[in-house]
Amino acid sequence: SRRLRAVDLAKRKAEGRKIIALTAYHAHTAGILDAYCDFILVGDSLGMVMHGMESTLPVTLEMMIVQAQAVMRGTSRSLVVVDMPFGSYEASREQAFLSAARVLKETGAGAIKLEGGARFADTVAFLTERGVPVMGHIGLTPQSVNTMGGFKVQGHGAGDEARLISDARAISDAGAFAIVLEGIVEPVARAIATDPAVTAATIGIGATSACDGQILVLEDMLGLSERAPKFVKGYGSLRAHIEGAVRLYAEEVREGRFPADEHTYAPR
Ligand code: KIV
Ligand code: NA
Repeated sequence: SRRLRAVDLAKRKAEGRKIIALTAYHAHTAGILDAYCDFILVGDSLGMVMHGMESTLPVTLEMMIVQAQAVMRGTSRSLVVVDMPFGSYEASREQAFLSAARVLKETGAGAIKLEGGARFADTVAFLTERGVPVMGHIGLTPQSVNTMGGFKVQGHGAGDEARLISDARAISDAGAFAIVLEGIVEPVARAIATDPAVTAATIGIGATSACDGQILVLEDMLGLSERAPKFVKGYGSLRAHIEGAVRLYAEEVREGRFPADEHTYAPR
């Protein structure tokens, strides 16, 4: 079976079938997700999740490409979407195209994602017209942490609601096949997700169940991250699981119980 494409996800909205998505940065985890997800996002959250950075701003295009290559190797069915990191697309639509082309050429991924609303509609159209499927991302956009003054939920007040709705419409009109709605108060997210003028599929994270699909950061939902936002439901407790295994290993090595005979090689 061939890999899903951006156009297949766009169809899901019309069919009313939910779009399932998670993030992954590694071949092995992506491989587990592959049977269950429609798309896997190689998110720039990898800067914080894998590297302990305080924001996503230091993430480079090279880092994204290396992890996207790993995720492509580990999967065969899901669409792989790759985040454009801060500084790789904002200066001009030409810069955005050159960065996006590198990602698609060097990884084989099927789409890119970029953060921003109406201001980036021009860029979204430029990329789409040139063969790059684009997923938008509005609301709480982590690359704008410095101008937002923190990781803040968006959509409080009528002005903010109107801005977010016009951002979603602009990105959708420009040809984005999907839009991530992150950290947006529920009624506003719902208004966008049910807006007939937004033809792009809406993917929620801290948004609303009315979205066409949902995404979470894998390490957050698995309970591996040290702390996760309120919108994350814990579907696992990997942190405790890993700690238990490591504690037992340390104990057994200390006491000489590991390795046992079955873990050693007899001479021929
Ligand atoms: O970087 C990321 O993981 C993301 C998702 C949270 C949507 O952009
Ligand atoms: Na991201």
